Amino acid sequence: MNQNKKFLYDYSHIDFSNTTSKKDILVLLIQHDKDSFNYSFNTAAFNYAIAKELGVDDPTDLRLMFESGLFHDTGKLGMIPEFINFPGSYTLMMYNEMKKHAQGGSEILEKVNADIEIVEAAKYHHCNIDGSGYPGGLYGKEIPLSARITRISDSLDAYLSKRCYKEGGPAKEALDDLKQYTGTSYDEELIKCFEAIHNQIMKECHLIGEDRPSQKMYMHFLVRLYLYDFPVKNAKHILELF
Ligand SMILES: [Fe+2]
Repeated sequence: MNQNKKFLYDYSHIDFSNTTSKKDILVLLIQHDKDSFNYSFNTAAFNYAIAKELGVDDPTDLRLMFESGLFHDTGKLGMIPEFINFPGSYTLMMYNEMKKHAQGGSEILEKVNADIEIVEAAKYHHCNIDGSGYPGGLYGKEIPLSARITRISDSLDAYLSKRCYKEGGPAKEALDDLKQYTGTSYDEELIKCFEAIHNQIMKECHLIGEDRPSQKMYMHFLVRLYLYDFPVKNAKHILELF
């Protein structure tokens, strides 16, 4: 492939001909880049927990928040894995191309009639509460709830995960890391929800004598404390949800 073309946003490598449902999109996402898909599962699990802490208790609404996390990076289908996992800093041109995944994902999800919350999370999950971020144009609570929650969950997963260009951050410090950007990147009320989640997870870790949990242990307790009533508990069985 031409070197420059590799880093352009386009779908010519994806066969959408039989894509008519969210499940079909999920299959494409898993086939396209397994690692990215696993990150999306973590984002979905955080979304579910944050929504619960916010007081959402209707199973349908909770599931919508889960799916908003699961499908938030659907637009990355328009980026080949070498582009998604580029082991260095993006050039300005690459960054501008990458930003298209927000709008792109929302359009793919609209075509399969995904719920509005899921479409909006894909479109606005890089919008910051202070109006910065992309695609921009929304500020504060104008940003839909599913996107404001996903903004935090996506950052949490990015912080905790080891990527080709960085080590995972210490789970113990996840709250302090995100808190620095309360009111600029993140919604204050939702950071308070995450604070409750983080404190509960750290309490469970302390009880088993581990005050510096790995990402794996941290996610284990997240699932145990919050997804006990959800039918799917890991990325491996995700297709059973649909
Ligand atoms: Fe994204």
